[in-house]
Amino acid sequence: MALWGSRWRKSLNKDVEEFTYSLDFDKRLFKVDLIGTLAHVLMLNKIGVITNWEIKVLVEEIKKLYESLKEDIDNIKDSEDIHTYIEENLTKKIGDIAKKIHTGRSRNDQVALDLRLYLREEAYELSQLILKIRENFLSMAERYIDSPMPGYTHLQEAQPVSIGHYFLAYDSMFERDLERLWEIYKRLDVMPLGSGALAGSNLPLDRYYVAEILGFSEVSDNSMDSVADRDFVADFIYFSSLIFTHLSKLSEEIILWSTQEFSFIRLPEEYSTGSSMMPHKRNPDVAELTRGKTGKIIGNLVNILTILKALPLSYNRDLQEDKPAVFLVIDELKLALKVWSNFILNLEFNMDKIEKTLRNDFLYATDIAEYLVLRGMPFRDAHKTVGEVVKYCEDNSKSFKELSIEEWKNFSPLFDEEIFKLLNPEESIKSKKTWGSPNPSLNREVIKKKRQSLRDQKLKWELIKDKLPSIDKIIERVNL
Ligand code: ARG
Repeated sequence: MALWGSRWRKSLNKDVEEFTYSLDFDKRLFKVDLIGTLAHVLMLNKIGVITNWEIKVLVEEIKKLYESLKEDIDNIKDSEDIHTYIEENLTKKIGDIAKKIHTGRSRNDQVALDLRLYLREEAYELSQLILKIRENFLSMAERYIDSPMPGYTHLQEAQPVSIGHYFLAYDSMFERDLERLWEIYKRLDVMPLGSGALAGSNLPLDRYYVAEILGFSEVSDNSMDSVADRDFVADFIYFSSLIFTHLSKLSEEIILWSTQEFSFIRLPEEYSTGSSMMPHKRNPDVAELTRGKTGKIIGNLVNILTILKALPLSYNRDLQEDKPAVFLVIDELKLALKVWSNFILNLEFNMDKIEKTLRNDFLYATDIAEYLVLRGMPFRDAHKTVGEVVKYCEDNSKSFKELSIEEWKNFSPLFDEEIFKLLNPEESIKSKKTWGSPNPSLNREVIKKKRQSLRDQKLKWELIKDKLPSIDKIIERVNL
């Protein structure tokens, strides 16, 4: 019988049962549901609802159920959801004592707690994966800090940068992503249990004690908001969508660079596939799938926002649909981060082809304009002068290098032999003076700074790890 069954004369229509059933996907909350239940019953013991004898039996049974579910979680069925399954199972084992478990608790605040506990753990795991990918971006940045490559705007060859500079750009994105996850963690760190169905409880539940057992920093301030709030789910999916967007941008770059036309990289064999028909192919499937999966992830951002947008306070069953969305997104994200961490480490650059592309002199047009500025010409005039040189070159099918010094001087007396030194990619990046530019010696400093930020982020997340509760840690702590 369902948990609410006593008033019903008919059992649930079979199709409706299937329609409302969520055990298939929410069973992955079994561990956090047991952790939350453990904290709740310990609190009920503290306030005298559960006796010292009963709590011992309960704790033992919760631990046993945890051990058996760890083995058997794939095979459980028959209950409406994981919360029901756990309560029914404990009742089967220890009868009357288990009837006290749900005192002052509703599945509405229970599921809100479970999801927060679950996402706190996932946030920690994700933090480790992002730290790893950052580490790999930084080591690639270091490896290629002195290797020039063309940089693009509008996908047109623009100015020389370095391969390392590209990797540092991605490191900056993932540094921000991890900061974003930290902000989300802070909002997850609020304990909703004790909000009951929507209006709290007449019993003197000690919510602060529950929060302390579970390692939450705060207790929520409004019982209706507590059972209805899924902002943190939307936060999580937005955060994931943005990471996927970053990976998808990188994918696009990898796909372009691996084309015959660019040939800037050779795809590592373990990360590419052949064609069943065309023997010469090496396809960037990882990058293409990442780009494709990003659509699904962003789709789920729209999914959660649409679920939430018309809900009156407080709990509504619509909220059950948050879980398939966030679970799917997290699974895909963790896998994508693992794949990409190693993928980037294995990218091989085709230096000959990159060097050939850098021979296009027009990449140095901006350097030449700034050369004129350094010799006293106003920038607008310098821009115009170099524009005229470019036009002259185009009209006469010449490159900058092929112009004689006399031809240069026809455009401005400020030009001298020095100009030819500028037409060189190493020189171009070395000449950059601004912080954040591809200048290798400045980028060495940037890498130091980023390694420090990596260490700081690592430390911050280690502290979180100690706060995450486990069944054993809680049992040890209360020392029954
Ligand atoms: N399975 C539900 C969910 O995931 C929790 C149960 C609350 N159901 C209810 N009818 N109050 O949101």
